Amino acid sequence: MERLQKVIAQSGYASRRKAEELIQKGLVQVNGEVVTTLGVKVAKTDEIVVDGVALSTEEKEYYLLNKPRGVITSTKDEKNRKTVVDLIPTDKRIYPVGRLDYDTTGALLLTNDGTLANLLMHPSTHLEKVYLAKVKGIAKGENLVPLKNGVMLDGEKVIPDRVKLRKVDKEKETSMVELTIHEGKNHQVKRMFEQVHLEVLKLKRIQIGFLTLDKLPSGSYRKLTPKEVSKLYNLVQKK
Ligand code: URA
Repeated sequence: MERLQKVIAQSGYASRRKAEELIQKGLVQVNGEVVTTLGVKVAKTDEIVVDGVALSTEEKEYYLLNKPRGVITSTKDEKNRKTVVDLIPTDKRIYPVGRLDYDTTGALLLTNDGTLANLLMHPSTHLEKVYLAKVKGIAKGENLVPLKNGVMLDGEKVIPDRVKLRKVDKEKETSMVELTIHEGKNHQVKRMFEQVHLEVLKLKRIQIGFLTLDKLPSGSYRKLTPKEVSKLYNLVQKK
């Protein structure tokens, strides 16, 4: 048994203080009955409704996956291709936060915490995502300066937070460019490079906010620590 305000806070619906306010205002029901006293204890099986919204009391799970190539960012695929969810054995209904293309690799968050997922994906959140792109040709100022100044996507000017030329392979005629963006438009990175006449050969997301892949091998995952989860909540709720 846990205190009601703690359970509400753990669901991600609201902070514990806000949950206390909601209880005192009579906006919380437990098994159909309004509860206004703080400190009431509830069980996992109790039905909690906050301001008309049923709370999912399923225990929340948070994963960071190093997505390999050739895996679809979805919970299921009509063509029966492998999905990112297939890579994480759990009985919880987790789903990816945002998406990476079939051929894109790297950092992807998965969770069954809809509140956090929605907050992370909301355009106003401005969560920084860092990509490493292998592009065809020698990236030069004439490509990178216009990229740094911003390109038009879907009728909107998109300015990267950072662009760094990491490496040039003169023999193979390829370049590695690190690009940091905070939006999540469809195929955004590939389309941004296309605008400056650079073709992306390989793309990897190396960082989401403060979360880096470190030594996580391709196809592997790890659970986020409670500290990382609360740091993510702090990040998105500050906006
Ligand atoms: N931008 C892309 O073009 N593809 C991805 O998978 C992610 C960002």
